[in-house]
Amino acid sequence: MGASGLSMSALNGKHILLGVTGGIAAYKAAELTRQLKSRGAEMRVVMTEAAQAFVAPLTFQALSGNPVATHLLDPVEESAMGHIALARWAELVLIAPATADFIARLRAGLAGDLLSALCLASEAPLILAPAMNRAMWANPATQDNVRVLRERGIRLLGPEEGEQACGETGPGRMLEPVELCEALEGSFGDGSLAGLSVLITAGPTREPLDAVRYLSNRSSGKMGYALARAAADAGARVTLISGPVALMPPPGVEFVAVETAAEMHVAVLSRVHESDIYIGAAAVADYRPAEVAQAKIKKTAASLNLELTRTEDILAAVAGLSPRPFTVGFAAETDRLEDYARGKLAAKNLDMIAANWVGRPQGGFDRDENSLHVFWPDGERELPLADKSRIAIQLIELIAERFHAQDTTENPR
Ligand code: CTP
Repeated sequence: MGASGLSMSALNGKHILLGVTGGIAAYKAAELTRQLKSRGAEMRVVMTEAAQAFVAPLTFQALSGNPVATHLLDPVEESAMGHIALARWAELVLIAPATADFIARLRAGLAGDLLSALCLASEAPLILAPAMNRAMWANPATQDNVRVLRERGIRLLGPEEGEQACGETGPGRMLEPVELCEALEGSFGDGSLAGLSVLITAGPTREPLDAVRYLSNRSSGKMGYALARAAADAGARVTLISGPVALMPPPGVEFVAVETAAEMHVAVLSRVHESDIYIGAAAVADYRPAEVAQAKIKKTAASLNLELTRTEDILAAVAGLSPRPFTVGFAAETDRLEDYARGKLAAKNLDMIAANWVGRPQGGFDRDENSLHVFWPDGERELPLADKSRIAIQLIELIAERFHAQDTTENPR
C-alpha cells in the first residue's frame, strides 16, 4: 500500500478500544495510546470513573484524536457513539491498566459502568494488562478471577515483576507500552509462533549433597521466564520447566517445577515429542555429587573431598532425537565467546545458540539486563544490552524467523 517501503505495522488501520481503569499505571496508558496511534491504529478510549482521578480524559482525547467515553447512558456520549456502537466498532479491546477491581467485575459479568458494559457487549478479543500491588495480584481471589477469565479465552499480558508505585517489589507492574504494542502486533499478525508448541527450561538446578545441602548456581531464571512470556505472546503454546527460582510463572503458560538435572531431564524428555521448538535456557548443573548422604554430613574430618559425576546433557539429548524440535541452546562464556559458542552449536548439533558474557559487570546471570550474540549454522545476530523482557521478545522473533526459514527448506528434522 504505502510508498514508504517501511514495513507496515500489523496494527495499521485496526480499531482498538483502550479501556483505562483506575490505577497509577493509567499514566502509562497515555504513552500507550500515543504508541498505538503512531503504529497506525485507530483509537477510542474509554475511562472508568476511578481512572479519571489519575489522568484527565482530555489527555487521551488529544493523544487518540477522538472523544473519550466515560459514562454509560450519557445522552451526549450516546448520541456520539453509543456503547453498543462502540462495542461493535472495536476489533480488539485492551484494558490497560486492568485493576483487581475491574478484573473481578469482568469475572462476574457486571455491566453497571460503561467499560464493563462494553466488555460484555463486545465480541472482539479482549486483552488485559493487569497492574496492581503485588499482594493484590497474588491474592487467591484475584488469581481465581484470572484463571476463570483465561478459561473464557481472555488473554493477559503481564503483569511483570518490578518496583511498584507503593514502594514494594514483586509481580504486579503493568508491561511497558512498547511491550504491549509488540504483543498486540503479534495478536493481529496471528503471532509469529501461532499454532506452535514451545518447550523452555529455566533457572538453576539443585544437586543434593546430603539431607540439607545442595550444589547450585546463581541463575535467577529471569531470561527463561521472559522467553516463556514472549513465546506465549507470540501465539505459542508454552511449557516452562523450571528449577527453583523466586519468580511467578507467566500467565497462560503450562508450568512444571523440578529440582535436579535428572528431574529436568525426565520432564523434558517426556514432553519434548509434542514440541516444535525447544529452548534450553536453564543453567543445568554439569556435575552432581556422586553420592548423596542420607543424613547430614558432620564436620568430623579436617578436610572433605567431594566426588562429582557428570549430569545428563539435556540439550544434547534433545538435539539427538529424531525427529527433533528446532533446538536452541544457551552458552555463558567468560572468554572467547564466539569460538566457544560456535563450537557448542556444531558439537551439539543445535539449530541456534544464544551466547552471553558472564563475570562482567553488566548482563548475564542474576541480572535484569542481558545482551546476546546469537549464532546459527549460516548466520549470526547481536542483540545489544537491554532489559531481559525486551531481549526475550527479540530472541523469540529471531527463533520464529529461523524456524520458518528452515521449515521451507528441504531439511527435515
Ligand atoms: N545444558 C543442558 N544439560 C546440561 C548442561 C547444560 O541441557 N547438563 C544446556 C543448557 O541449558 C544450555 C547449554 O546446555 O542451553 C549450555 O551448554 P554447556 O555446553 O553446558 O555450557 P557450559 O556449561 O557453559 O559448558 P562449558 O562448561 O563446557 O563451557
